[in-house]
Amino acid sequence: MATSMSDKRITLAWSGASGAPYGLRLLECLLAADYEVYLLVSSAARVVLATEHGLKLPSGPEAAKEALVKHLNAPTDKLVVCGKEDWFSPVASGSAAPKKMVVCPCSAGSLAAIAHGMSDNLAERAADVVLKECGQLLLVVRETPFSTLHLENMLKLSQMGVTIMPAAPGFYHQPKSIDDLVDFMVARILDHLGIEQVLVPRWGYDQRDK
Ligand SMILES: Cc1cc2nc3c(=O)[nH]c(=O)nc-3n(C[C@H](O)[C@H](O)[C@H](O)COP(=O)(O)O)c2cc1C
Repeated sequence: MATSMSDKRITLAWSGASGAPYGLRLLECLLAADYEVYLLVSSAARVVLATEHGLKLPSGPEAAKEALVKHLNAPTDKLVVCGKEDWFSPVASGSAAPKKMVVCPCSAGSLAAIAHGMSDNLAERAADVVLKECGQLLLVVRETPFSTLHLENMLKLSQMGVTIMPAAPGFYHQPKSIDDLVDFMVARILDHLGIEQVLVPRWGYDQRDK
């Protein structure tokens, strides 16, 4: 990959698994950390976003960005919303794609497509590019229970160096709200990306008297 491009570039894909608030919060945190974010949103992700968060995202990338700019609590000048078949996007080529990519939330369908290199839409292609370029790929998979097929797909990708992070927040930080649970997952994702975060106290470092 070209060395002259900033390291603070990342691809974020929202697929149609439950957990839209994770994806939204992660996007806010990446933008707040001054990352250039290439956002890919599947059709099913737009349905989930409307169902879980009441946010109706238009299908066109420009209109979708406009809706997000109004909604997000973060600077949006470095947000690039990509079309589902925008094969000319930088994320579609190893010569220009960011080295990091997160699929959050990641559906079982997207998991399977990525595990099998389908590259049938821009998100699948972007993941395939990160894999072939030996970049960092992180999948926040959400389904329950997992079938053998899901587990096999996760194992296959894990053996290729992909980080599989089930959307399964802990409770040991004594969450008081859904936002606290969302922040737990997003904090762990940011930790794995090497991005500084102060969303949740670190284990053994909080000041609570026990
Ligand atoms: C409200 C809603 C919630 C869903 N939750 C999940 C889920 O948690 N996990 C999953 O694998 N699929 C879930 N689905 C089904 C996926 O959206 C569906 O399989 C879709 O084809 C995935 O496509 P995508 O990966 O391209 O977004 C959900 C669908 C809807 C409408």
